[in-house]
Amino acid sequence: MKKYLLIFVLACFSTSIFAQQQNYELVVNVNKVGAKVQPYMYGLFFEDINFGADGGLYAELIKNRSFDFPQSLMGWTTFGDVTVKNENGPFDRNPNYVRLSDAGHGHKHTGLENEGFKGIGLKKDATYRFSVWARTIDSNTTQKIRVEFIDANNNPFERKELEITSSEWEKYEVVLTSPKEEEKASLRIFLKSEGSVDLEHISLFPTDTWKARENGLRRDLVEALDELNPGLFRFPGGCIVEGTDLETRYDWKKSIGQVENRPLNENRWHYTFDNRLFPDYFQTYGMGFYELFLLSEDLGAEPLPVVNAGLACQYQNEGEHCHVPVGELGDYIQDALDLIEFANGDITTEWGKIRAEMGHPEPFNMKFIGIGNEQWGPEYPARLEKFIEAIRSKYPEIKIVGSSGPQAEGKDFEYLWPEMKRLKVDLVDEHYYRSPEWFLNQADRYDSYDRKGPKVFAGEYASHHNNRKNNLESALTEAAFMTGLERNADIVHMATYAPLLAHVDAWQWRPDLIWFDNLRVARTPNYYVQKIYAHNSGTNVLPITWNKNPLTGQEGLYASSVIDTDKKEIIIKLSNASEETKNINISLDGLKRKMRIQPALEYTVLTGEKDLENSLENPKAILPKTSVKTIMGTNIEVDVKPNSFNMFVLKYTD
Ligand code: AHR
Repeated sequence: MKKYLLIFVLACFSTSIFAQQQNYELVVNVNKVGAKVQPYMYGLFFEDINFGADGGLYAELIKNRSFDFPQSLMGWTTFGDVTVKNENGPFDRNPNYVRLSDAGHGHKHTGLENEGFKGIGLKKDATYRFSVWARTIDSNTTQKIRVEFIDANNNPFERKELEITSSEWEKYEVVLTSPKEEEKASLRIFLKSEGSVDLEHISLFPTDTWKARENGLRRDLVEALDELNPGLFRFPGGCIVEGTDLETRYDWKKSIGQVENRPLNENRWHYTFDNRLFPDYFQTYGMGFYELFLLSEDLGAEPLPVVNAGLACQYQNEGEHCHVPVGELGDYIQDALDLIEFANGDITTEWGKIRAEMGHPEPFNMKFIGIGNEQWGPEYPARLEKFIEAIRSKYPEIKIVGSSGPQAEGKDFEYLWPEMKRLKVDLVDEHYYRSPEWFLNQADRYDSYDRKGPKVFAGEYASHHNNRKNNLESALTEAAFMTGLERNADIVHMATYAPLLAHVDAWQWRPDLIWFDNLRVARTPNYYVQKIYAHNSGTNVLPITWNKNPLTGQEGLYASSVIDTDKKEIIIKLSNASEETKNINISLDGLKRKMRIQPALEYTVLTGEKDLENSLENPKAILPKTSVKTIMGTNIEVDVKPNSFNMFVLKYTD
């Protein structure tokens, strides 16, 4: 027994000696101020997937408000005498409307009820603007409708009446106040008079939208985006740029102008995965290009719109016949040129004038345009070349983003990169949805990229754990990988996680950066990684080394460092992907004589059990923690936890 005790004590002793010996001396070369980190390096990729726009960011609460879904009453339950009509409606591109007529007898009811997007979320004491385009059928009568909120148990709890006074189409509005919180309410409309009335574009918005705009966006969701401090905003996708066929591609010109007359488009995510079928998912374009440019501006992010390259989604279409022939690209190229004019042209230009009429006479100052999404094969460069010729000749200052296809390596990728170089695009959009291991292994991905060609836009990426959850492990592997983006900021100019948003009751794809329901928002651990990087991107790269080498995964460690010459900060990011605590010593080398490091060190750490997630019920299960420590001199000594992402911010004076 004594013998075993002795062995145990010796083992413990030797482990602790061993632990003490594991000392990692990291050096930051403060005098080697390297590449500029682009102010738009960390951004957002937005697509109407997972109810990201309709049913999500776009604050409209009524589904199928214009009765123009292919099943014209989808989302509506009718009772009494209700018919769908389409002659002489007020909006030619959304022709349908409903006629409500007295059901007779005096006791029978006519009306209809809307189920919203997986219910209508109402907040206690909040106000909601109901609006409708309406007319009476008989010019001598005034008709009355009653509008009410119904809770999940079928009880009405707020009502208002409206008089329809004209036989001409007019817009009517009334504001309702919700006396209680209800996640899955519905909206019911009764005909309260004895005649007939026509109703079109039935709409309900919270008055408390982002910046209190009518036709606005959900405030809590925009706040979550704003909090990320994004430098870039890519829109409107993703695959919806391409469309299942060219007819259903995202057509930006249909997404602007009077909101009631923007024609409905299908949303390919409604049927892309038949195990995640959402037959009620369409694009109203209510949040169209004007609203998306405005959102970029609000967020202080560079807008990066992407247009169709004359190619329908290549996953769903094989062969040249599915696409626009190279010689017939004229309209598509004109769409790209007109888009630049819409964003930047002065108000005397055709498209600049439309922007001004919509409320924004100042240009949006767009600098980038993406041509095509995830394209591949010779079809793509053949078309891209034509766009490039036209854009370069009219707008040489605009930077063009090409694509390296849907894969991060392999045949198509190897073919497209040289093609992108040949065509001299400014940036190449790379996509990678890969395992956590892949992300860890790829931290040195960009170390050997050709510095003379186009820059890199990591346009869609996410660490896909085998359970596809937004757990801490996935976030930590992204954080480790991103040290590689940051170290290579001379070539990597932009990076956007994807997808951005997902409704818990209506998602098609996961993981996603932000989850929400009709009332609540949950920020994932991945969100906090993005937030840490975007708030601490610095102005220039500084080398950080261990044994004179960059840390790209040796012993599970990954590191990058930047200096912010405006805020006067030296920022070090360090991931420990191992299962051991690491004793780290970071020293600053080459400090200029006048540079004084402040003793207060800001230390942020994201760590915990690898499978932890944030949910709507428990949105703060995993959060980064920031503390202030005092350092002596210029050395940081710290025990870095296993499975952790760490950031150190040192302030200096000079
Ligand atoms: O982000 C989801 C989808 O992934 C995008 O629409 C597409 O570009 C990629 O395949």
